[in-house]
Amino acid sequence: MADTRTTATPPQNLSGISRPGRGMQVVKPKNLKGTLKRLWDLTTGKRKGLGLVLLFSAFSSATAIISPRLTGSIITHISEGDTITTLLLLLAGLYVCDWFVKFMQQFLMAAIGQRIINHIRQELFGKIKNLPLRFFDKHQHGELMSRLTNDVDNISTTISSSITLLMTYSFTIVGIFTMMVMLSPILTLVTLCSVFMIFVLTKVVTKHTRKLFREQQKNLGILNGQIEEGISGLTVVKAFGREKQMEEDFDRKNENLTKTAIRALIWSGYLMPLMNVINNICYLAIAVISGLLYINGNLSDIGLISTFLLYSRQFTRPFVEIANVYNNLQTAVAGAERVFEIMDQEPEPVDKPDAKELTNTRGEVEFRNVSFGYDTGKTILKDISLKIPAGKKVAIVGPTGSGKTTIINLLTRFYDVTSGSIYLDGTDLRDYRMGDLRNVFGVVLQDTALFAESVKDNIAYGKEGATLDSIKEAARAAGADAFIERLPNGYDTVLEQGGMELSQGERQLLTIARAVLSNAPIMILDEATSSVDTVTEQKIRNAMLKICENRTSFIIAHRLSTIRDSDIIILIENGRIAEKGSHDELITLNGKYAEMYRTQVG
Ligand SMILES: Nc1ncnc2c1ncn2[C@@H]1O[C@H](COP(=O)(O)OP(=O)(O)OP(=O)(O)O)[C@@H](O)[C@H]1O
Ligand SMILES: [Mg+2]
Repeated sequence: MADTRTTATPPQNLSGISRPGRGMQVVKPKNLKGTLKRLWDLTTGKRKGLGLVLLFSAFSSATAIISPRLTGSIITHISEGDTITTLLLLLAGLYVCDWFVKFMQQFLMAAIGQRIINHIRQELFGKIKNLPLRFFDKHQHGELMSRLTNDVDNISTTISSSITLLMTYSFTIVGIFTMMVMLSPILTLVTLCSVFMIFVLTKVVTKHTRKLFREQQKNLGILNGQIEEGISGLTVVKAFGREKQMEEDFDRKNENLTKTAIRALIWSGYLMPLMNVINNICYLAIAVISGLLYINGNLSDIGLISTFLLYSRQFTRPFVEIANVYNNLQTAVAGAERVFEIMDQEPEPVDKPDAKELTNTRGEVEFRNVSFGYDTGKTILKDISLKIPAGKKVAIVGPTGSGKTTIINLLTRFYDVTSGSIYLDGTDLRDYRMGDLRNVFGVVLQDTALFAESVKDNIAYGKEGATLDSIKEAARAAGADAFIERLPNGYDTVLEQGGMELSQGERQLLTIARAVLSNAPIMILDEATSSVDTVTEQKIRNAMLKICENRTSFIIAHRLSTIRDSDIIILIENGRIAEKGSHDELITLNGKYAEMYRTQVG
């Protein structure tokens, strides 16, 4: 739950024109240079376009540099009584060109940026589906979602706008500075003074606001977390009568957030007006000093006064903005790093070059000295050896957490064994093509997974082109037809909430129907009957008997009555096979299984 709020990057200013001194939370990238290089590599094939963008930026800056000079000239011409038509036309033409160039720049950057992002998104999603399940054990879903959505968005918006802005600003600063020095060193000095003051001021204010905004972000996260918990856990809240405490808690957190937000806004509110004051003083100073210079004959040209006034305004802005653009860029690059981190993950092991085709299996399974742990250092399954002849019904029982589902995870190659081997028809699983192997299994997993599609599509999941008749037949075999018929649109009912609108037992029946329809040579049912009533259980048991007929099947169950007639029952305890045999054998053995059976059946 908590991950979405801590990893979500702060909202970006989509226009790319950041408010100065907001002091937004900056997430520092680990390797700015390296990541920028990788991003640069992604622009392959789009470099010509980027070159054009650079050219346009240069043009924009040139306009910013030339137009004040032209304005100055116009004033000089007026004061000397000359005609100004040509100059006016030139200036107007320049402005129109500038508009066009800026538009083209935006257009190009948007197109290039979005193409790059499209590529990243495609690669990322393609990557995700090939990642081993192990990866998802270590990363929370919310965090991954945030990488796929927020971070990718940040890369596109920020980088495309930051690049153009950084280019334009750098050109502008260098160009205007050169012009100013050439025209009047004294007035340049005055302008530099004001830039310096604004720079210091921004530094001081952002130091405070950054801290406050970080606090605000944190408080917002806490509040969001509570809202999330409150909504998702509302049933529990009500059941335990905690509404009042929840509300009080919420009010307190809400108040905290409001206070920090107000302080942050007040501090950042200082900046703009103060900067305006400094700017205006600078204006005044330039006006007075240049006026004096002109009167004393130290300034040749009256137009220079207006030129400088305009320059000073254009000169200070980029300085203030560059810091913010740079911060945005850093945040985006940090996001890019998180995205690249996923791309750099080892994918699920690919098929060996000489991988075997697996079209038809007898279904003979053997575990030979299999050990396995999800994390290195913690062994879950220890030295499992087990041979199952084709067509046998195997039941796996044992206490919660003993490793039953883990055995299935290895058999279906969701995970690979740490040591030892698993053989199917005498061949190591890892020597088969993965795609073929997964087709061999029809699975009903412990966590029912349904999709927001129609009931019939959910049953036909994984079996393209199944006819409605075969779907209905599978549902009947699984005992799911009765409740499906009662749904508003029967088999066409769309599970808007991904199955959450069904009862747990109903969801299980649907996944069983899915497995029936798959008609796979090996069936795996993990806790298929755990949440249904005894009548339905009996129905499912019959269905299971039918679908397990003549094929190797694995059934994991807590209710021992369901698996009594299995050919082999395996009792797993602490990751080891504790007992093995038929029901009667194990009862005669009078060990743990017999004890479990007695407590359950009485
Ligand atoms: N993805 C995972 N990452 C790390 N550890 C895991 C993972 N899945 C399960 N485990 C651990 O492995 C052990 C065995 O889990 P497993 O799911 O196989 O138990 P189980 O026998 O199926 O239990 P239950 O009867 O409750 O379904 C447990 O201690 C569990 O905490
Ligand atoms: Mg389990």
